[in-house]
Amino acid sequence: MTPELIQKERNAKYVRLSWYALVALVTSSTGIYLFFMYERKKLEERQQELANVGAGKPKIGGSWSLVDHNGLPRTDKDFFGKYVLMYFGYTFCPDVCPEELEKISTALDKLKSQDKIGRETVVPLFVSCDPKRDSLEAIKEYLAEFHKDFLGLTGTHQQIKRIAKAFKMYYSAPPRAVDDDEVDYLVDHSIFTYLIGPDGKYVAHFGITDTADDMAEQIAKDIKSLKGVLRDDSDI
Ligand code: NI
Repeated sequence: MTPELIQKERNAKYVRLSWYALVALVTSSTGIYLFFMYERKKLEERQQELANVGAGKPKIGGSWSLVDHNGLPRTDKDFFGKYVLMYFGYTFCPDVCPEELEKISTALDKLKSQDKIGRETVVPLFVSCDPKRDSLEAIKEYLAEFHKDFLGLTGTHQQIKRIAKAFKMYYSAPPRAVDDDEVDYLVDHSIFTYLIGPDGKYVAHFGITDTADDMAEQIAKDIKSLKGVLRDDSDI
């Protein structure tokens, strides 16, 4: 090989190497770019998710429209600005509902007497899942046995189905409870009490194993920790 040929060969090698380097650079930059785009998209999706459900909390709640035990039409928006304790049940319930309503009433009295919630208001709502038998008058009389603050709500089967679905509440509606003349039946239903914030969003829920003390304590804690997040004029 002549020195010129050797030089030519070297140049060709150099050009090839440069091409490899360029291809490698473009490939890796594209890879890094795509990776970051992917990560950013994931982050955006996560942020959107958090915004939707409120700091990782389960998606419970939504808008509803019912009628209260005084015959007034009510929607979720009527309770914005207040805390709500919502319970689903029916006045004919033989044992669980009375115990749970008693518990809610005790928890409310504790919160008030211990002055744990400052100027905040907690409204206890009872949503009937047995609209056929639970007349407005029946609900009103029934709730008066537990706590004077209780407000009963009922509606059509369709309206009750909607609110139950939003709050992930199960209740059985046997045909007898809907169409028949039969009035002797039980309605199976889930037993949860929801604490809803002044913005109408889910805060916490309580089950059958929570005592009135647990409930009062948790509600006071939640209201305190939401102070500042939702409003700044509270004196708790
Ligand atoms: Ni019940």
